[in-house]
Amino acid sequence: MNSLVTFEMDGDLALIGLARPPVNALGQPLRAAILEAAERAAADPAVKAIVLHGSSGLFSAGADISEFGSEASFAAPDLPGLLLRLTRLDKPLVAAIGKLALGGGLELALACGYRIGEPGTRVGLPEINLGLLPGAGGTQRLPRLIGAQAALDMMLSGAPVNAQKALDIGILDRLAPSAESLLDEARAYARELVAGQAQARPAVPFPEPAKGLPEDFLARFRQDNEPRWKSRLAPRLLLSAVEAACLLPLEEGLAREVALFKEAEASRQSAALRHVFFAEREAGKVPGIDASTQLRTIAKVAVIGAGTMGGGIAMNFANAGIPVTLLERQGDALDRGLAQIRHNYGISVKRGKLSEAQLEQRMALLTGTLDYADLADVDLVIEAVFEKMEIKQAVFRELDRACKPGAILASNTSSLDVDQIAAVTSRPQDVIGLHFFSPANVMRLLEVVRGKATAPDVLATTLKMGRTIGKMPVVSGVCFGFIGNRMLEPYAREAHRLVLEGATPAQVDGVLTGLDLNMGVFSMLDLAGVDVNFLVRDANRAAIAHDESYCRLGDELYALGRFGQKTGRGFYAYEGRNRQDDYEVVALAERLAGELHVPRRPIGDQEIHDRCLFMLINEGIQLLDEGIALRAGDIDLVWLNGYGFPSHLGGPMHYAETLGLDKVLAGIRHYQKALGDYGQMWFTPAPLLERLVAAGKTRIEPF
Ligand code: CAA
Repeated sequence: MNSLVTFEMDGDLALIGLARPPVNALGQPLRAAILEAAERAAADPAVKAIVLHGSSGLFSAGADISEFGSEASFAAPDLPGLLLRLTRLDKPLVAAIGKLALGGGLELALACGYRIGEPGTRVGLPEINLGLLPGAGGTQRLPRLIGAQAALDMMLSGAPVNAQKALDIGILDRLAPSAESLLDEARAYARELVAGQAQARPAVPFPEPAKGLPEDFLARFRQDNEPRWKSRLAPRLLLSAVEAACLLPLEEGLAREVALFKEAEASRQSAALRHVFFAEREAGKVPGIDASTQLRTIAKVAVIGAGTMGGGIAMNFANAGIPVTLLERQGDALDRGLAQIRHNYGISVKRGKLSEAQLEQRMALLTGTLDYADLADVDLVIEAVFEKMEIKQAVFRELDRACKPGAILASNTSSLDVDQIAAVTSRPQDVIGLHFFSPANVMRLLEVVRGKATAPDVLATTLKMGRTIGKMPVVSGVCFGFIGNRMLEPYAREAHRLVLEGATPAQVDGVLTGLDLNMGVFSMLDLAGVDVNFLVRDANRAAIAHDESYCRLGDELYALGRFGQKTGRGFYAYEGRNRQDDYEVVALAERLAGELHVPRRPIGDQEIHDRCLFMLINEGIQLLDEGIALRAGDIDLVWLNGYGFPSHLGGPMHYAETLGLDKVLAGIRHYQKALGDYGQMWFTPAPLLERLVAAGKTRIEPF
C-alpha cells in the first residue's frame, strides 16, 4: 500500500490512515492513495465498514495550496471526483476527525456518512481566506447538513468552529471523550453501525437547505453584504454556489460549484491571497536562527510609558495571560493610563466580546510603578516613550541599571536608529526594536528591528513572543522608518505633491480606497495626526533632498494648528468622525502652488494611482536591495497588516508583479521625464528594479 496512507484490518473494519505530514494536505499523491485504499476496502467482502483517520492524529488541513494554479490541482483523481466516489461506497464510512478538518479536509469528512470528533477538534471551511470557495462539495453538502444560513456564516467568515459547536449544529455526530480515545471510539461507532445494519449514508436533515428561510433570503443577503465585500470576488462566487445548493439537485449543484471554484482559482485575487498564505509562513524563517536556537523565557513583561501606545502594548500581554508592569514618571499619568486600559476593556465587555470576570482577570495582571527598581525581575521590557533619541537613550540607561542580566530590552521606536539606542547600554546584544502599530492592542503588524548587535536568541524569542500575542512579526533591518514608514514617506510625499499640482485630497484618497485600501493617505494622516507626521518629517529633514515643495501642504497645515481629526480640521474638516472636503485646503494648495511655481492642471486618476503606488513599490524594492527587508513577501506583510493594503492585492510587491515590473519601471521613467526638475529629483528607479527588468524577471527578489 502507498506510504501516504496506512491500511489496517481490524476484524471486519478497514482503518485507512492519512499519513502525509505535517497536515495531510490533499495533494494528488494523497488523493490517489486514498482512492486506492477505499477501492481495496470496497472490493473486500470481509470489510463491513471503513474508518478514515489521520495517522498522526490530525485529520486534514484541506487541499494542497501549493497545487493551486497548476495542473496538479485537478489532476486525477481530483478532489470532487474522489469524494463523489466515497459517497457512492455501499459500506458505512466513519471519519475520525482528530484536531483539524479544514477546507477539503472537512469536505472529505462530509463525504463520509458518519463523523466523530474529539474535544480538541476544530472544523471549518477557510477557503475564503485564499480567495476561493469550497470546491469539493462543501458549498453543496454543508448547507444540506446544517442549513443555508449557518453554512454561509461558516464559509464567509472562514473561521473554524470548535468540537462542541460542530456537534451542536450537526457537523459531528459524536464526540470521543479524549483525543487518545478517538480511534477506539470511531471503531466502536463503526461496529455499532455494522451491528445495526446502518445505511452507508444516513438521511441528511436539510435536504432543502433554504427550508424555513424567507423566499428573498439570498437576494437580501447579497444586497446587505455587497458593500462590505468591496471588490472581492470570492464571497460573490460563494454565494452563487449556495444559491445553486438551494435551487438545484445535488449533482447539478456540485457541477456548478466546480465551475465557480475554477473561476475563483484562476483569479488574480486568489493568487494574491495564496501568496500571502505562504509569505506569512516564510516570515518566520530568518537567517541565523532556526529550531535549534535556544529561546529565552518570557514570563514577565514591563512597558515603559502608559500613554496610548504603552497601554495598548500592555493589553496584548494581559490578553495572553502574561503579567505586565507599567512604568510611568508621574502617578497621575500612570493612573490615567491604567484607567484608559480599563475603559478599553470595558468597551469589549459592552460589545459582548469579554466578560466582567475576564476584564478583572486582565486588569489583575497589570501592575503600575514609578520606580525602575520594580523591573528587576522582568524578562522583557518594551519602551514606549516620546519619539526622541535623547529621551529613549535616557530610558535605556535606566533599564541597563535596573534589569537583570539576560532581560530583553526593546524599543517601540517607529523610526529611530536602534543601534544608537543599544549603544548607551552595556548589553547591545539584548536590545531590539519592537515596533507596534496603533492601536497596538488591535493592529496585527509587529516590525521586529534587528540591530547590528542583536543576539540571535533575542530575535528568535521576540519572533515567537510576537506570535504568542497574536501578532504578525516581520523582521526589518535598521534604517529610518524601517520597512513600513520608510515606504510611507515617498507614497505620502507624492500624494502631497499631487494636491499642489491640482488634485484634491478626496480625489487622491478616492483612487486609493478604490483599490480597496482601508484609507487614503490624507484620511490616514488626519487620523494619525498631522502634527505627529510633521514631527517625524522634521526630525529627518536633513536627510532628505532639498525640495521646497516637499510635503509643504502638511507643513502649512501643521503651522495652522490643523492637526487632523483630533482638532476637527486637517486635510479635511470633521464633524465628529464625518469627513468633509474643505475648500480652505484647496485654496491653500492653490496659494502654495503659486508661490512655488508649481503649474496646476486637472490630474487624472491613473496618474494618481501610478505616482503614489509606483513610488511606494520603488522604495520597497530599494529596501530589499539594501537588505533591510529579507524578502518581497515580508514587505507585503508589513503593508497588509500595518497600513490597510488589501490582502486580495497581495501587498505592494505582489501588486507590482501583477502589474508587470516592466510597466512599473516604464511608469517611473515616464514621470522622471514628464515632471521636469521634480521628476528628476524623485523619480529615480531603484537599481534592483532596473536589473530585474533587464534580466526579464517577473518576480521581485534579491538579484
Ligand atoms: N496546503 C499546503 N501546505 C499547507 C497547508 C495546505 N492546506 N496547510 C498547511 N500547510 C503547510 C504550511 O505551509 C507549513 O509549511 P512549512 O512548514 O513548509 O512552512 C506547514 O504546513 C505547517 O503549517 P503552519 O506553519 O501554518 O502550522 P500551524 O500549526 O500554525 O497551522 C494550519 C496549521 C491551521 C493547518 C494552517 O497551516 C492553515 O490554516 N492551513 C491552511 C488551511 C486551509 O486554508 N485549508 C483550505 C485549503 S483550500 C481547499 O481545501 C479548497 C477546496 O475546497 C478543495
